[in-house]
Amino acid sequence: MSLDVNEIQTIEHDVLVIGAGGAGLRAAIACSAHKLNTGVLSKSLLGKAHTVMAEGGMAAAMGNVDSRDNWKVHFRDTMRGGKFLNVWRMAELHAKQAPERVRELEEWGAVFDRTKEGLISQRNFGGHRYPRLAHVGDRTGLELIRSLQDHGIHQGIDFHMEVTALEILKDGDRVAGVLAYRRETGRFVIYKCKAIIFATGGGGKAWPVTSNSWEYTGDGIAMAYDAGAELMDLEFTQFHPTGMVWPLSVRGILVTEGVRGDGGILKNNKGERFMFKYISERFAPETAATEEEANRWLAGDKTARRPPELLTRDEVARAITAEVKAGRGSPHGGVFLDIASRVPADVIRRKLPSMYHQFKELAEVDITKEPMEVGPTLHYFMGGIRVDADSQMSTVPGLFACGECGAGMHGANRLGGNSLSDLIVFGKLAGDGANDYIKGLGSPPKANNEQIATAVRRATEILNREKGTNPYILHEQLMETMSKGVGIVRVKEELETAVTELEKLKVDAQTMKAPGASQYNPGWHEALSMRSLLITSEAVTRSALMREESRGAHTRLDHPGESAEWVKYNVIVKKAADGNMEVEKRPKPEGHAALVAIANAKIEDLESGKVGADYQ
Ligand code: FUM
Repeated sequence: MSLDVNEIQTIEHDVLVIGAGGAGLRAAIACSAHKLNTGVLSKSLLGKAHTVMAEGGMAAAMGNVDSRDNWKVHFRDTMRGGKFLNVWRMAELHAKQAPERVRELEEWGAVFDRTKEGLISQRNFGGHRYPRLAHVGDRTGLELIRSLQDHGIHQGIDFHMEVTALEILKDGDRVAGVLAYRRETGRFVIYKCKAIIFATGGGGKAWPVTSNSWEYTGDGIAMAYDAGAELMDLEFTQFHPTGMVWPLSVRGILVTEGVRGDGGILKNNKGERFMFKYISERFAPETAATEEEANRWLAGDKTARRPPELLTRDEVARAITAEVKAGRGSPHGGVFLDIASRVPADVIRRKLPSMYHQFKELAEVDITKEPMEVGPTLHYFMGGIRVDADSQMSTVPGLFACGECGAGMHGANRLGGNSLSDLIVFGKLAGDGANDYIKGLGSPPKANNEQIATAVRRATEILNREKGTNPYILHEQLMETMSKGVGIVRVKEELETAVTELEKLKVDAQTMKAPGASQYNPGWHEALSMRSLLITSEAVTRSALMREESRGAHTRLDHPGESAEWVKYNVIVKKAADGNMEVEKRPKPEGHAALVAIANAKIEDLESGKVGADYQ
């Protein structure tokens, strides 16, 4: 059948933002403030982004609850949490700009919880030295999205909902637009633009137990890779320590870290508060060594150190996994999270209303009376598209990335709450970066009809072939491969097996078949997202195989401990000229000497001004 590209609907914008979570919305608001004609594509409906799964708060050193907090302490916590692999400049920009972005959200209508003095309240979270998370109960991500939507809708931004991007269109090296399709009708749309901002999130749906919903299939990461962009740090996939484990139908749904931040503790099936056994050397000076000290901290004693339940996520997730493996787990393969015996019922219901309802309705557990059963759930990609720290531009001219699909800010492990602040800080910077790029652009780019026709044919072949592989079965096989070989702990042989299995799945994917027409066809949607999932999973697996050490969220049983050598490198993934995936160990750029000193300083030296005082 011949294909006339000119018959496909074409829509033009200066900038196309792909993804309508916190980063995408903030980027679009920035573009629109620069008077750019801005369009936002959302794969699903507005308000349904992974942003809402960051429940407990957004990290910003405002010092409202503890005046000792400031950007340098936040930066130091972030670098230590990321095991020093973070891009120095990104961690700096984030720590400096987060408070301003939070205050701006409030001006746009976000209704934060307050301190007694009427300031924005801030709660404790893992790895943050001081109470730092501005929050709205345990629904902070939802409030962030609501506020950005309410503000953005009045800025003249065009929203295109239930539209999935398939391929970046290019004019030479530069981006020229995107080919997409409407999920309802199956009709293709060509979006022409001068710059693209990806805010597409991660690829959690490659694992069976995840807090991610159906949209998170690594689309932006895969499209950027296909368009020639470099990817970075993909071996670092975060397992949030506390997801629901029971009932099976809701396994993986997030249980906010706010439960631990507000006093919840972890216990094994012997009733032991086991986290004291897992305090690493790095965090020992800052962590309570006894229950007595941890209880004093909970009671507000500022001389006491933080409880070990508030260690960083990688450490807590590994400890839970070790307890379960040693036979000390809960009946359904997790551990117990107990807030009932520590915090009065009315406070739990007020501070953690969603958790209260979630457990009541989904598991018939009253968290004000009983402990929860929890276990690790794939939550977040630290790695993604490699970007310039200040502009958020990728290695493809005109392609920007922010939020979870961008790499660098979080290094080997993200601190809870640093995601919502990342979205608003780097969303804005991406919008500013796209504006600067467009201002400096010579002739406008032109999309290439041949590229469009090839992409349309590749998508429709799935419908047109007589028979072929079932995409749902392929997805099941992918999840099995990733959970067996690329889970919370990894080993060379299993990673190699995963690579071999992924190669087979890639071959099977070439003959996927979705019966029926393109309208209302979930099988076709599933088949189209398999391509992104496979590219993303391969990049994660090959990167994990290359990094021969254990750092942050990447644990290699055959290479225990951090290596002084590997901290100097990032793993970079890109598409080679022959179309195969190329993985490279590349020296990591050094940080500004003052930043390095701040990150490595003893806290007392930083706070007394002995270190870092003259760096602003
Ligand atoms: O536990 C949580 O509320 C998640 C927050 C985050 O991922 O930043």
